[in-house]
Amino acid sequence: MRPASPARHATSLYRAHFASEPALVTSAPGRVNLIGEHTDYNGGPVLPLAIERRTAVAASVDRGWSVVSALDDTVFRLAPERGLVGGWVDYIIGVIRVLQETGSAPPGARLAVGSTVPLGAGLSSSAALTVATAGALGLLAGRRLTAAELADAAYRAEHDEVGVRCGRMDQTIAAFAKPRTAILFETADRTMRHVPLPTRVWVLETGVSHRLSGGALNERRVECERALGFLRAQGMPAASLAALEPAGLDPLLRRLPPALAPRVRHVVTETARTRAAAGALAQGRMERLGRLLFEGHASLRDDYECSCAEADLLVESAERQGAWGARLTGAGWGGAVIMLADPRQEARIVASVREDFRARYGRLPAAWSTRAAGGARSVVFRRGQRRNGNPTTRE
Ligand code: GLA
Repeated sequence: MRPASPARHATSLYRAHFASEPALVTSAPGRVNLIGEHTDYNGGPVLPLAIERRTAVAASVDRGWSVVSALDDTVFRLAPERGLVGGWVDYIIGVIRVLQETGSAPPGARLAVGSTVPLGAGLSSSAALTVATAGALGLLAGRRLTAAELADAAYRAEHDEVGVRCGRMDQTIAAFAKPRTAILFETADRTMRHVPLPTRVWVLETGVSHRLSGGALNERRVECERALGFLRAQGMPAASLAALEPAGLDPLLRRLPPALAPRVRHVVTETARTRAAAGALAQGRMERLGRLLFEGHASLRDDYECSCAEADLLVESAERQGAWGARLTGAGWGGAVIMLADPRQEARIVASVREDFRARYGRLPAAWSTRAAGGARSVVFRRGQRRNGNPTTRE
């Protein structure tokens, strides 16, 4: 079933709570990452795509700050100068504070948020929210932020303000995505290569909610920083963990504290897998790509230790049923598994995998497919009219 339009939802929430019409609506997508997990804050590559599920923000300028979403159906009055208050509105407060620093925020705004991105499913609902919010606030302040500015403001809101020590993958794909392509994003020099992705990607939700700010991601990041510091102290001039060569890795791992060695092995091998995966996708070698996904999952499970039993079962079952590939996507500790399969086989494979899951956990996991979708967009209204085909409307 196709979810309702988040833009329409945001607009009707806006009307219901603010008894007027919004000046504009912006939106940004959630994402899945094909491969390249926990590499973005280690200087490595990632290969994400935007999904067809989006978060929309309907907005107008106001004297103060207020926000409403379908989550709680209550209007929150915000005081960004006082800092964070806890909960999802912190992401909005973060964006306001970042844009205020660069003079790209309006004096205040009314915001209504509608979304079809599942929460806590590892599909980057937070970046969809921050990118859409940054786009809306910029426009209300009379500035159309570029994709790079949107991604940067959203990243700083989440990383510097909310304090999730994420990398730049989620905000970048939400801002830059193009339909039918994945992006090979090299985080070290921020270059991007759009790689066509002709097939659908299946998303199998574990139903185990992950909470990023809960600290697990931050903990892993600290471990990676310690490992890098350790190697440098031993005279290894590595720019980042991802810059280490896979050849000759073992002797180097032996010099690390035992708890850190598998983390480094994951980052180094995942970096190589991600570039190989982009190559395989570009050549249409889907089985080769899928094999890399399975290998990536094993590395997340065994070396990075960020999987969960539910995700492992989904991936193992997908492999047994003949999928090209499957792996946990996003930070982990719950969330969702992605799966690629021959279109002639996928219905059967998905049904069997879901049944395997039900046999073990007594419930059917949510499963849906998506094509690679487009990134941030906005529609500006004038006196209640949609302005089509002019420079303030963009896809
Ligand atoms: C989260 C972070 C990303 C990335 C992934 C793991 O989604 O926001 O920056 O680190 O985890 O690959």
